[in-house]
Amino acid sequence: MSFKKKIAVLGSGKGSNFVSLAKACADGTLPAEITLVISDVEDAKILDRAKEFGIPNKFINPGKYRTKLDATAETTCIKTLKDSGAQWVALAGFMRILKGDFLRAFEQKVINIHPSLLPAFPGLEAWKQACDYGVKVTGCTVHLVDHGIDTGRILAQGVVPVLEDDTSTTLHQRIQEEEHRLYPRTLARLFSNKIN
Ligand code: GAR
Repeated sequence: MSFKKKIAVLGSGKGSNFVSLAKACADGTLPAEITLVISDVEDAKILDRAKEFGIPNKFINPGKYRTKLDATAETTCIKTLKDSGAQWVALAGFMRILKGDFLRAFEQKVINIHPSLLPAFPGLEAWKQACDYGVKVTGCTVHLVDHGIDTGRILAQGVVPVLEDDTSTTLHQRIQEEEHRLYPRTLARLFSNKIN
């Protein structure tokens, strides 16, 4: 009998956070199995990364809205995730808001990584918001997903200093390096009940 948690990953982009989770599952530092990767973007690199790891992956057409899944897509997504056996859902650059039925289907089991020290800079391109504001430190946050935008309970944060010559691109690169450390480590601590 396996005591590994079953997690699914949802992403819209290049999938570097998915890769950090998949590597941690493979080397045993994250006692979990990724059952499925879903993307709302048909040619998203995250789907290619999933194939490289031999993990089932699926594009789900999000429907007519820009910022959320339509009702059909949401139903399909929930069913596909449940059928995969996923107990937890890890968002990794998934650029749509999940609400209502989805959050009820995975109550307190949807986790997100956000590229700022929440509650500062919620929403899009948080690294650019940090650069434009002129903060001296920023970072990333792993949190539970609730009905708000980047508002759920904070599980862990990693700090990244903003350097004198940083551009939003170089800052995002360093935030991502911290994300790749923080996300697997936080899930491992969560699954072993080391986070209250
Ligand atoms: C990550 O930096 C993640 O924090 C961010 O998207 C990027 C995805 O990169 N997520 C958000 O901004 C969500 N609000 P990846 O596809 O390489 O993992």
